[in-house]
Amino acid sequence: MATSISNAYEDTNIHPNNTIPLDFGSVLQLPESHVWTDDDDSGIGRRTCLARQPGAVAASPPVIDLRAPDAMWLVGDACRRWGVFQVTNHGVPHDLVEDVEEHARRLFKLPNDQKLKALRAPNGVTGYGVPRFSPFFPKLMWHEGFTIAGSAMEHAKLLWPHHYEEFCDAMDKYKQKMKSLAYNILLVMLKALGVDEEDREKLSSSFLCQSDGALQLNSYPCCPNPSQAIGLAPHTDSLLITILHQNDTNGLQIMQEGVGWVPIRPTPGALVVNIGNLMHILSNGAFHNMYHRVVPNETSHRFTIGYFYGPPADSVLAPLPKLPGPPRFRAVTVKEYIGLKNKHLEKGLSFIQL
Ligand code: OGA
Ligand code: NI
Repeated sequence: MATSISNAYEDTNIHPNNTIPLDFGSVLQLPESHVWTDDDDSGIGRRTCLARQPGAVAASPPVIDLRAPDAMWLVGDACRRWGVFQVTNHGVPHDLVEDVEEHARRLFKLPNDQKLKALRAPNGVTGYGVPRFSPFFPKLMWHEGFTIAGSAMEHAKLLWPHHYEEFCDAMDKYKQKMKSLAYNILLVMLKALGVDEEDREKLSSSFLCQSDGALQLNSYPCCPNPSQAIGLAPHTDSLLITILHQNDTNGLQIMQEGVGWVPIRPTPGALVVNIGNLMHILSNGAFHNMYHRVVPNETSHRFTIGYFYGPPADSVLAPLPKLPGPPRFRAVTVKEYIGLKNKHLEKGLSFIQL
């Protein structure tokens, strides 16, 4: 039987300290533990603020109607230029998205001691906690999250001993919808890379049809001094693609070389799709490895729902064979790559570069 994507994380025993988010409701000032300077995200192998080139113009990634006749072309262009785009006409019912967001709000509004009952275990994936990559940074992020890989039941029972079923049902339903949307978007991306039907079918049966995902509920509470804090430190996502619902609060930004941080503004009803490291590898570097961060704000609470889509842990990935140019990466199992990323963060990719 194929091993699920969460198996890829099992052996990466991440630091037991600093797993507990701040009790955000109890602080009026930004604590020293959460004050960030530019130096605090410089330890990850990439400068975050590249100098603005003279004449550089800040544009923004497109919003693409998935049913439009030129959708494939637009998706391909956005993946090459930006590594991110928003989609409308994606087939995920508005009511379901609202319902999942409402459950996330209810979860994060629980008293702190209640949320801590569902804390993520040091070697586990599901549960409440700080971002997984927190230990790479000297300061903490203005963020609390709840991750769901597989069933949320065990942890949801700890939060709501008598009313966990509604939460679990909504999450399962949303994950199912995300899974089929992610599969369809992947097929569009493969077409845009020029992969013919026969090869698409081969990829589908070798790993795509067994690909699955984890859900990540994110909460970025109002922040007393947002210019000195970070919601989510700059990073790339690890798997094939991420699909993100953001409520109507700004915060997500992407790094555009030579320009700086560009906001991805919430568009009502649209979902954000971005390229992860595994898709960057599969496309032989043609699809942009999107580097992004979240900044907090003073007046509105930002909630987002991320879906991270990837192949089973034992799948072997390599640049697709018929793409132009020599391969830029060696073949790697998903599990090996996740291990490299968890150990070296953004430098992980360099270990498989040819
Ligand atoms: C993530 C992420 C963005 C957001 O969870 O990896 O980048 O706006 N989230 O929450
Ligand atoms: Ni991300």
